[in-house]
Amino acid sequence: MNEPTSWHALVQRAGVLADTRADAVSRPVLGITGAPGAGKSTLGAALVADLRTSGRRVALVGMDGFHLAQAELERLGRAERKGAPDTFDADGFVILLRRLRLREARTAYAPALRRDLEEPVAASVPVEPGVDLVVTEGNYLLLDDEPWAQVQPLLEECWYLDLPDSVRRERLAKRHQAHGRSSRQAWERALGSDEQNAQLVTACRARADLVVTAPGFVPPSDGSAPH
Ligand SMILES: Nc1ncnc2c1ncn2[C@@H]1O[C@H](COP(=O)(O)OP(=O)(O)OP(=O)(O)O)[C@@H](O)[C@H]1O
Ligand SMILES: [Mg+2]
Repeated sequence: MNEPTSWHALVQRAGVLADTRADAVSRPVLGITGAPGAGKSTLGAALVADLRTSGRRVALVGMDGFHLAQAELERLGRAERKGAPDTFDADGFVILLRRLRLREARTAYAPALRRDLEEPVAASVPVEPGVDLVVTEGNYLLLDDEPWAQVQPLLEECWYLDLPDSVRRERLAKRHQAHGRSSRQAWERALGSDEQNAQLVTACRARADLVVTAPGFVPPSDGSAPH
């Protein structure tokens, strides 16, 4: 399970998923999970870009679009723990995945997290009828608490992106700073709330179909990488 994974091998493996079901009624969904800051969104975007370059029709639907709105987090008294499993509309995510597994005749729309607004925005990501593979990524794809436990059976396979904690926390703190937090606030977040979430995620590692330790791709430097 923990075989070394070259970037080429990852793209090929995802390409096989896209190709095998190309004429079927159902549509495969590939999951990418890992702790906060492991690089899931960056890897997902790079994978989808390469698959599209090879002519496949692929959509990227992040779990992060199912963050509860800030006002709802405040109403629930959970704003400080934004990112914890109960701060997402997990049931909504499960229902959308079920729907995306069917090739519906019309475009399905998924929400996306706008990190600049720190809010999810509905109907941001179109999944057109011709899409042959949906890639989804997020922290809790392999959690075994309800309703998250309903996610894994909907995935064709799920990859776990594993990065040394020191590198991961460093990147996370840097990303928090890039979004306007002071260095102290960024590290408080990375070592506090994010770390509690990370422990939940790392406990799920053994349930992954593939553990990716060194994806070996160069993230785009043109600003198109997710933040
Ligand atoms: N291969 C890489 N090399 C260098 N930096 C990277 C790489 N992958 C991701 N990063 C950077 O690390 C940070 C975290 O990456 P990313 O946002 O993709 O993680 P994530 O797992 O989606 O995090 P979250 O769980 O918070 O959504 C980002 O600032 C990103 O630009
Ligand atoms: Mg992300």
